[in-house]
Amino acid sequence: MSSANEAPPDNLVNFGCGHPDYALLPVDEIASATQQALLDDPNGRKWLQYGRENGNYPARAAIAEFLTNLYHTDSTSHAIDPETLFVTSGVSHGIQLTCRTLDRVHRQRQQEDANEAPLCWVEDPTYFLVPPIFEQAGYELEAVRTSPDNGLDLSDLETKIRAARTASPDRLLVLYCIPIHHNPLGVSLSEETRTQLIHLCKANEVYLIADEVYHGLGFPGTTSSPTAMAMRGSSPYIVSVSAFTKLLCPGIRCGWIQTSNRDLLHQIGQEGVLDSGGCSSQLSSGIVRQLIQNGKLDSYLAALQAEYAKRCQHLCQLLQDVSEGSEYPFQFDFAVPQGGYFL
Ligand SMILES: Cc1ncc(COP(=O)(O)O)c(C=O)c1O
Repeated sequence: MSSANEAPPDNLVNFGCGHPDYALLPVDEIASATQQALLDDPNGRKWLQYGRENGNYPARAAIAEFLTNLYHTDSTSHAIDPETLFVTSGVSHGIQLTCRTLDRVHRQRQQEDANEAPLCWVEDPTYFLVPPIFEQAGYELEAVRTSPDNGLDLSDLETKIRAARTASPDRLLVLYCIPIHHNPLGVSLSEETRTQLIHLCKANEVYLIADEVYHGLGFPGTTSSPTAMAMRGSSPYIVSVSAFTKLLCPGIRCGWIQTSNRDLLHQIGQEGVLDSGGCSSQLSSGIVRQLIQNGKLDSYLAALQAEYAKRCQHLCQLLQDVSEGSEYPFQFDFAVPQGGYFL
């Protein structure tokens, strides 16, 4: 991890992990937004104080406004409610808070009957650093098939859900999946699959933790921007986790959990670490709010989408040349991504 965190030599492109290019990091935008958030606002000091467990309201209101625009849900009836958002210090943190809380609450409800480890399904392949988050929270993991073109295999998932429910009707069941610009497959779930997945989870009381960290990185002109999974219907079983990690920079450590399940959000706020420390990203959520309000996040993101589209096109062309070239002894296919980091 440490070598990947340093600027690579100029002639080297590191494909080993999903880190943004050093040259693209928004240094000036963050520096001036920090100044504005702290000094230009007469109440700027609040960002240096402890914050509410779920994040200060002005930060959540700004994130809600940003997401309402991102998902094109601009009619007032569909505007995102800040009370459905919980500020985190990134997606990894959001996943950890959610899976720990689900287990804690489930055990309290089951009382002495809850000896069984909770079960979490992950896609095969999945984001390679996610399994330890669930395992360290006491979950057993099981892989679900995917296809390179369509992502998550719903029929395999359904078979596994039925088997798990038959074996243990009261077990806590969770699915972690990456519905948009998947890491590492690059695919996004179709509208139909999204709808079916939500029904399947709801009907079988399976919690879905949808990691949407690449949402917002659709290439210009190629992708529609589906709403977050948590906004489809009002199922208490659906939780979206996302962050500004890829939309701004990883170092900002600011993200959110989104769900219509208010009780779950309340329970997440009861996690000891938040009860003691308050909002985990108090200062950075103030900086992000500033970037949303002054329009810099939108303009940076538009430039990032265009740049990533250009780089992706370049990479696809190189791969195409390699695959068709006579000097290479192998051929391969690949799907051209619509956004995100992965091909
Ligand atoms: C799918 C996925 N989820 C989560 C993360 C980590 O997100 P964060 O840095 O916000 O914890 C990454 C980083 O590459 C990722 O690819």
